[in-house]
Amino acid sequence: MLRRGARGALGALGGRGSRVAAVLALAVVLAPAGCGAGGDADPVRVGFSQLSAEGSWRAANTASIRSALTPADGFELTFSDDQRKQEGQIAVLRGFIAADVDVIAFSPVVQDGWDQVLREARDAGVPVVLVDRSTTSRLDGAYVTRVGADFRAEGERAGRWVREHAPGARVFELQGTLGSGAQVARQQGFRAVVGDQVVGEATGAFTRAGGRDVTAAALEAWPEVDLVFAHNDDMALGAVEAVRAAGLRPGVDVRVVSVDGTREALRALADGEIAHVVECDPLFGEQLAAVLRRVAAGERVPDRVVVPGRGFDRSVTEAEIEARTY
Ligand code: AHR
Repeated sequence: MLRRGARGALGALGGRGSRVAAVLALAVVLAPAGCGAGGDADPVRVGFSQLSAEGSWRAANTASIRSALTPADGFELTFSDDQRKQEGQIAVLRGFIAADVDVIAFSPVVQDGWDQVLREARDAGVPVVLVDRSTTSRLDGAYVTRVGADFRAEGERAGRWVREHAPGARVFELQGTLGSGAQVARQQGFRAVVGDQVVGEATGAFTRAGGRDVTAAALEAWPEVDLVFAHNDDMALGAVEAVRAAGLRPGVDVRVVSVDGTREALRALADGEIAHVVECDPLFGEQLAAVLRRVAAGERVPDRVVVPGRGFDRSVTEAEIEARTY
C-alpha cells in the first residue's frame, strides 16, 4: 500500500538527527483509532517481530496489537514470536525486508546491535517502527518512531516512592533482561533518585521463576535487604514467594516495589504483599495501528509516541483490579 509514499516519508524525515526533539502528546498527533481502516484500499502489510511470550505483560501486549492489526482494520499482519533471541529477531527482520512489507514493527530484546539490519531495512526503503522497547542505534534514518512507555520515568517514579515512603530502606534491585531498553532505563531512573540505597542487584530476566530464585539468593547474600525493586510484576510476584519461603513477611519485613500493573500484582498490592506498582500499559495496539497507517501512507509521525502510565498504591480499588484484562 502506497509504497512510494512510504519511502518518500523516510527520506523526508531525514534521520534522527534532523527530527523534532520534542515528544508530542499522543492525542494531539494521531488520528482517531480506526481512521483510514478497511474500505477497498490495499491492506497495510506489516511484519511484526515480538521479542517473546515471556510473561503476562508481553502476552497482553501481543493480544492488543494482534486485535488492532486485523484485516477488518486494513492490515495484513505477519507475526513472529522470536523467543528472546536477538539472532532470531534479526533473521526475521531480514525475512520481512525480503518480503518487501510496507512497515516493519519490532520490539528489540536488547538495545544494542541492530545497526546492520536497520541499515538493510533503510537501504531497501522499508520503514521501521519500534514497539515498546528501545535501541541505542544512532544510525541516520534507522527507524521512524518508537511507540511505548517512558522506562526511565517509570524508574524515577519507583525511586520517588522509595525516597518518600522508605528513605532508610536497603534495596535489592531485581533487574529485567540485562541490556534491554526497559532494564537499562528503569535502572537509570531509579538510581538517579535513590541510588545510594541500593545494596545489591541481579537479573531475574523479567520472569517469575527468575524473580523468585534471584531474590532467594539475594536475601542470603544481603540479609540487610528490606526492600526489593523489581523491574516488572512477574519478577515481583516471584520475589514475594521468595520472601515468604525465607520465613519473612512480604510487606512487613521486606517490601516490594514493581512495574507493570497486572491484575495479579494489583491484587497483591491490595493484600499488602506489594507496596507500590508503577504502571506500564501494554494495551497500545490501537495507537500503534494509527502510527503504522500513517507511516505506510507516507505521512509524518512524531519521532516518539509515549504510552502514559500512573502509580498504584494500596488505595487501589476492587473495580480497578477487576478492570484489568491482564
Ligand atoms: O518492555 C516492557 C517490559 O517487558 C515489561 O515491564 C515486562 O513485563 C516485559 O517483559
